[in-house]
Amino acid sequence: SQQAERQTTLDMFRLNKEQLLEIKQRMRVEMERGLKKETHNSATVKMLPTYVRSTPDGTEKGDFLALDLGGTNFRVLLVRVRNGMRRGVEMHNKIYSIPAEVMQGTGEELFDHIVHCISDFLEYMGMKGVSLPMGFTFSFPCHQNNLDEGILLKWTKGFKATGCEGEDVVTLLKEAIHRREEFDLDVVAVVNDTVGTMMTCGYEDPYCEVGLIVGTGSNACYMEEMRNVDLVSGEEGRMCINMEWGAFGDSGCLDDFRTPFDKSVDDLSLNPGKQRYEKMISGMYLGEIVRNILIDFTKRGLLFRGRISERLKTRSIFETKFLSQIESDRLALRQVRSILQHLGLDSTCDDSIIVKEVCTAVARRAAQLCGAGLAAVVDKIRENRGLDFLKITVGVDGTLYKLHPHFATVLHQTVQDLAPSCSVSFLQSEDGSGKGAALITAVACRIREAGQ
Ligand code: BG6
Ligand code: GLC
Repeated sequence: SQQAERQTTLDMFRLNKEQLLEIKQRMRVEMERGLKKETHNSATVKMLPTYVRSTPDGTEKGDFLALDLGGTNFRVLLVRVRNGMRRGVEMHNKIYSIPAEVMQGTGEELFDHIVHCISDFLEYMGMKGVSLPMGFTFSFPCHQNNLDEGILLKWTKGFKATGCEGEDVVTLLKEAIHRREEFDLDVVAVVNDTVGTMMTCGYEDPYCEVGLIVGTGSNACYMEEMRNVDLVSGEEGRMCINMEWGAFGDSGCLDDFRTPFDKSVDDLSLNPGKQRYEKMISGMYLGEIVRNILIDFTKRGLLFRGRISERLKTRSIFETKFLSQIESDRLALRQVRSILQHLGLDSTCDDSIIVKEVCTAVARRAAQLCGAGLAAVVDKIRENRGLDFLKITVGVDGTLYKLHPHFATVLHQTVQDLAPSCSVSFLQSEDGSGKGAALITAVACRIREAGQ
């Protein structure tokens, strides 16, 4: 029957515990490869040192600028951090858009646009002429030799500006500032969004030693023992590692779990063959997987009365917010139909049930895959510390995690199943990662001043 035919397809998205444990194990292997000097260069999960050596302790203070580039929104922020009796953080921020032409144009255009936005923000805050230290949240894989530089390894997600890969993004930013000849900036820290999120949440919860993003892209960071970080000398203490786990699977090690739909989403993306795990998990791609399944069903006469609309052929129509709405339990099917209508898809009642089932299967697998990766991370931290039991908090941000009605629940359950020796709490970042970037900048400034 048609129902059985559809089910066979959706069964490809089902993962049992044994398979998830296998994925957890493979993630662990890739983590070790990234950390080890001998295998780092060929490793896909890069395990990048961040030069952040501790989580916040409440002594941070000062006024800072922060940039937050790489998620849904580009933000410029002013962050005021107080310690002592008035401990707390006050933030002002403005959101700016980055048109797709700029994301995929030249590096000069992109950084000129960023500097234009900073200039507008300083004007808006009445701060032209004041020079504040800045933390730059830059949510892409960067090789760092220091806190205040970041050599872009590869663009991911929707960015593809030319002339940036292999360059230090702080230099690119400074060059754009000089071209404008209007103000100067003191960039103290380059921070991945996972790291910024861990620090933001770490300001509230000292157990927070993992950062997780499930938004446009997906990635995680955590506090690793220095003795395991081959790329940085020194054996004492810890350092935060930006895993860049989105690239898990790029060696082919997830091929037995990838479906033909994952492959076509990958093939048609800006970066084919790259970020394969991310493409099975994050908001920029889940809707595309759903759309590919719907096209397949329609072609086989199992949906939309076999008629493919122009709309269905259009890329990126299923944004995270639609997936989240379609799966909302409070929504009657009539409302699902109206969402589909809004997307230009004429559906019957049966069609809307099928679409919802497809969304559920794809999002559930995403949350489980993410949970398998996270289970590998917390178990490694536990083993690092020689503990039988670990209590830990994961700081989380990202629109998929925050908006989707079931993603978080499935993720939490999966981590508990796959890492039973860890008690993992999840703390949602309400303040984005800019606050964390400012905290990192505060510590760096203090150390710098002490050294002078
Ligand atoms: C934001 C953080 O809140 O979440 C960003 O401030 C981060 O740094 C973003 O990149 C991730 O979510 P999304 O859904 O915007 O990609
Ligand atoms: C992509 C980026 C990574 C970032 C993640 C979440 O995977 O490569 O640096 O943390 O998206 O925004």
